[in-house]
Amino acid sequence: MADDLKSRLAARWSLQGYKALVTGGTAGIGKGIVDELAALGASVYTCARSSSSLADRLKEWKDAGLDVAGSICDVSSRPQRLELMKSVSDHFAGNLDILVNNVGLSVEKPMLEQTEDDYNIVFSTNLESGYHLSQLAHPMLKLSKNASIIFVSSIAGYHPIAHPTTLYGMTKGAMHQLTKSLAYQWAKDMIRVNCVAPGGIETEATRERINALLVQDPTFFSRHVPLARQGKPEEVGAPVAFLCMPCSSYCTGHIFVVDGGTVINGLFQRS
Ligand SMILES: NC(=O)c1ccc[n+]([C@@H]2O[C@H](COP(=O)([O-])OP(=O)(O)OC[C@H]3O[C@@H](n4cnc5c(N)ncnc54)[C@H](OP(=O)(O)O)[C@@H]3O)[C@@H](O)[C@H]2O)c1
Repeated sequence: MADDLKSRLAARWSLQGYKALVTGGTAGIGKGIVDELAALGASVYTCARSSSSLADRLKEWKDAGLDVAGSICDVSSRPQRLELMKSVSDHFAGNLDILVNNVGLSVEKPMLEQTEDDYNIVFSTNLESGYHLSQLAHPMLKLSKNASIIFVSSIAGYHPIAHPTTLYGMTKGAMHQLTKSLAYQWAKDMIRVNCVAPGGIETEATRERINALLVQDPTFFSRHVPLARQGKPEEVGAPVAFLCMPCSSYCTGHIFVVDGGTVINGLFQRS
């Protein structure tokens, strides 16, 4: 009886046999997510624009005994998204359980300096990519017994932040609405849709800006973040994995904030 309970619980906290696509998995938060899903038993497919970093990461995952494949794709391009989903379908023989829309970028300029190109690249990379990949993945996800879509947004989707990230915040806020809308629409297809909204996470994308900030204000994290530090990519990977596992089977339409308490502390008040 006890063994039965233990094995049922172990199965609920596992991704053994799951097939996942994670966009932008060769660095930063995306890599943290790939590591976590693959270590929990999933077969993972990822993509990035740089062939050399993709080849390096694929070798590292193989050497670590993790089942990860991937191909080149710029998710801001519609034709490349179509090609990516064809490769994923071929790789997993038409099956997919998990789609993680992770890729995102920010163009940081005051509103009056932003151009049409800035608008287009931020919207196509951050929002249109996940919207379109979700449409493309739907037929495969519908076949799964426990399908999940995860969007990676940001606490900038809730609050304007100190540096000028209007376009970034607009896409992340829209992602929250997309999460809730799809969760509602696709519940009938047994597809759960959730979102993870990180605060400051130490990655290649933010390192330079954070280092410059800490030179100006060494107490920044201790003053603004209750846990008094930046997060790590694996600290985003873990809640993403939780939201994909059977143990979270009653969670959908949720925005899971991973920010060391930043939002409850009111980080973005003017000082
Ligand atoms: N870091 C933070 O503090 C933070 C906070 C809140 C939210 N987020 C969100 O978390 C997500 C990941 O951020 P990150 O900081 O981990 O970024 P990152 O360190 O820059 O990692 C980006 C990853 O995505 C790939 N990538 C970038 N643009 C791509 C594109 N157009 N098509 C395909 N792959 C692409 C990169 O590979 P290639 O360069 O080879 O393409 C790399 O694998 C983003 O949505 C971001 O908005 C980050």
